[in-house]
Amino acid sequence: MNNINKYMQSLKPEKRAIPEKSYTREDWQGGYQSLTQEFDYWIDDIEGQIPPELQGTLFRNGPGLLDINGQPIHHPFDGDGMISRISFVNGRAHYRNRFVRTEGYVAEQKAGKILHRGVFGTQKPGGWLANIFDLKIKNIANTNVIYWGGKLLALWEAAEPHQLDPHTLETLGKEYFNGVLSAGEAFSAHPRFDPSSNQDEGAPCLVNFSIKPGLSTTITIFELNLAGEIIRKHAHSVPGFCFIHDFVITPNYCIFFQNPVIFNPIPLVVGIRAAGECIKFQPHQATRVIVIPRNSQARQTKVKFWETQSGFVFHHANAFEVGDEIVIDSICYESLPEVEPESDFRQVNFETNSPGQLWRFRLNWGSETVQQEMIESRCCEFPSINPMCVGRNYQYLYIGAAHEETVNAPLQALLKIDLKSGERQLWSAAPRGFIGEPIFVPRPSAEKEDDGWVLALVYDATHHRSDVVILDASDFNREAIARLHLKHHIPYGLHGNFTTEVFI
Ligand code: CO
Repeated sequence: MNNINKYMQSLKPEKRAIPEKSYTREDWQGGYQSLTQEFDYWIDDIEGQIPPELQGTLFRNGPGLLDINGQPIHHPFDGDGMISRISFVNGRAHYRNRFVRTEGYVAEQKAGKILHRGVFGTQKPGGWLANIFDLKIKNIANTNVIYWGGKLLALWEAAEPHQLDPHTLETLGKEYFNGVLSAGEAFSAHPRFDPSSNQDEGAPCLVNFSIKPGLSTTITIFELNLAGEIIRKHAHSVPGFCFIHDFVITPNYCIFFQNPVIFNPIPLVVGIRAAGECIKFQPHQATRVIVIPRNSQARQTKVKFWETQSGFVFHHANAFEVGDEIVIDSICYESLPEVEPESDFRQVNFETNSPGQLWRFRLNWGSETVQQEMIESRCCEFPSINPMCVGRNYQYLYIGAAHEETVNAPLQALLKIDLKSGERQLWSAAPRGFIGEPIFVPRPSAEKEDDGWVLALVYDATHHRSDVVILDASDFNREAIARLHLKHHIPYGLHGNFTTEVFI
């Protein structure tokens, strides 16, 4: 009897150790194949109906090439930027994609091989001798795309933007904003759109930043008016090395999380490692929150630092000021997986990595303390909100999420979180669908915060192609309003934006 019990007990954990997964790694890997072709067509394979009120253009950016003529790149963050444009007009949709013709893209396509080192580990062939002292990095324009001030700009955080023609997606050249940006000066890939700027009589403005890392780091803030001119630019020096990808704004402040990392540049200089591989996460070091005032009406007009234990943050969802506090919602990781020189990102072990989770931080001006609480433990990334709520107290968050509640896994679902009631709604594309960043688009003349649509690209492994899905933002429990089947796949992308202007 005893033996039988022991036998039964030994069976149980065994059974639990092989849970039914919501995906297969082979399916997921299909979305990391290069797309070399450039397309231009009306989408006619559609399930459901495109709402006629949905008029405008969704621009998306991301690595289109995961190899150069068969030579694999080391990390998708090193892939050449490819813009996808989905235009919605009168209930129809049009697709076009083009690579950003950066100097590096043009030269490498001509040579048919890798000519540049990448920030995330792509090395020129030839080992360390070919890479030693080559600190010139390739501006790959692959992280975000915005339409602002009549200009379409492909953004990459370590250098200047590339301007594109929104009608043809042709690359027009680098953008310097009438000389306010200097050659090689960075302009981050995570601008925030202030729907009503205090300093401009309530006109919208775009706020962005740049990071110049070193022993101390310079953070520069840019504010652009509707005409696309930089109307405010101020620089601040903060102690220590910064690895900062994103920030958040309120009407009065720009807020940055200085992740606890150290940077050892020696392997980079001698050519055996790329910049991204020289960053080491320091789990026992505090995260520093840097609060930079945007204007002279701010409560605190000097740069202020706060300390908290937060893990690693790539993306923030939103921030707002309420009473004595600044509230910040961010996706935090317990640790940063290091980019290893010999590793293949396609072989990533999701189960052993820590998931991104949504946390809320409250900075209190009175007590000068930071309080933090987890809002969502499900693995999630790529938050999106109603653009009218940027920097304001808000209720709804839309975010890419894992299908299963408790494991780290690829994003296969879209989660809507009601931050007031705590209600969750999940729309899932599992088992064979994989999802990217959702974008919330308000319905014209909408009054409720969640009255609109959520647009996302879903990689469908069954057909090795991507779909554009349109969800009713007010109800994720409904089936998608429409699913637009593209004729091809789009490699997993990074960020994008919607404009109500229609470009075809
Ligand atoms: Co990002």
